[in-house]
Amino acid sequence: MANKLKVGIIGVGGIAKGAHIPGYLRLNDKVEIVALCDIIEERAKKKANELGVTKVFTDYNEMLEMKEIDIISVCTPNYAHAPATIAALNAGKNVICEKPMAKNAKEAEEMVKAYKKSGKILTVGYQWRFDPDIQALKSHIDAGEFGDIYFAKAIATRRRGIPAWGDFLNMEKQGGGPLVDIGTHALDLTLYLMGHPEPDTVLGSSYTKLADKGCLNNFRDYDPKDYQVEDAAFGFVKMKNGATLSVETSWAMNLMDDEIFGTEVYGSGAGARFHWGKPLTIVNESHDRINMNQIIRRDKIGNNYNAEIEHFVNCVIEGKEPLVKPEEALRVVKIQDAIYNSQKTGAAVKIK
Ligand SMILES: NC(=O)c1ccc[n+]([C@@H]2O[C@H](COP(=O)([O-])OP(=O)(O)OC[C@H]3O[C@@H](n4cnc5c(N)ncnc54)[C@H](O)[C@@H]3O)[C@@H](O)[C@H]2O)c1
Repeated sequence: MANKLKVGIIGVGGIAKGAHIPGYLRLNDKVEIVALCDIIEERAKKKANELGVTKVFTDYNEMLEMKEIDIISVCTPNYAHAPATIAALNAGKNVICEKPMAKNAKEAEEMVKAYKKSGKILTVGYQWRFDPDIQALKSHIDAGEFGDIYFAKAIATRRRGIPAWGDFLNMEKQGGGPLVDIGTHALDLTLYLMGHPEPDTVLGSSYTKLADKGCLNNFRDYDPKDYQVEDAAFGFVKMKNGATLSVETSWAMNLMDDEIFGTEVYGSGAGARFHWGKPLTIVNESHDRINMNQIIRRDKIGNNYNAEIEHFVNCVIEGKEPLVKPEEALRVVKIQDAIYNSQKTGAAVKIK
């Protein structure tokens, strides 16, 4: 391509270095990373040197003044998702923002407004949508084989898996714990497979039972005094079309399994279970159990990220709507908010 799309990255931490930057680098015939921004200058400089990128910023507003930038990846902790995304859209950039879309639904709504005004593309980093098993399952559902999906489960539970680096334990910066970190992925996947029914009422609970006491952690040690978010959350969502969705998520809980990440959907025609690392299983009307025989391995996760970045870049080039739409990501944040609000009020929460 004569004129490669120019990319700027805001937040040069784990997800930028592990997913976005490698995702763009493999598309070097179409895109070029031209600027990096991190409030920790050394971090951005180190990566810039490695990549041969000359523009380094600590303030994203300055980076957004670069007219030549077409694409922005927002890879900051959650508190900066909305302000950075809105500033980038207002500056005429196409944006991929990491999940969750924002710290809360109010901020996510502002992002949707800015997106609509901008005429640019906005998508959110729900890379699991691109998983080959999920795509296979979705095609069976779209072919009508599942009939009416009336029950589904979004599951993202870890026995001991607290991401005790960066700002993940900080309520003010993140807006929550496992629900907004890993539960958000499972929720998005499940809503996608259900066809994005409109949520009506949510009953939710959240707990901090283990992590604030300094429980063992598979990931790394941390100071329990820093632990400000929930360590487990659960929700029961009634949809306007009558369907029911349950949500289970934890970073620390006395579970039988080390970790379950996935989704289950049950319809009048068939049911399916996608648990990461296990074969996708579909049970149909005649009780036949079909193993889809595409076992997901840990090393495949990189491919979902690559597929996500490639899809986003192609959407920008071709002016296409992305698979993960801003309004869908907003709906996920609304359910998350409602689970927390239900915990606070002790009552079911209506979603507007
Ligand atoms: N899609 C996924 O599966 C996935 C996986 C991991 C993380 N994430 C998301 O990515 C985001 C970042 O997570 P991470 O693991 O990379 O965290 P991290 O702490 O490793 O990196 C975040 C970086 O952002 C920088 N930063 C903070 N505020 C900034 C600001 N205002 N302007 C510029 N830079 C800023 C920090 O200095 C840090 O270098 C989170 O929202 C997280 O939910 C998504």
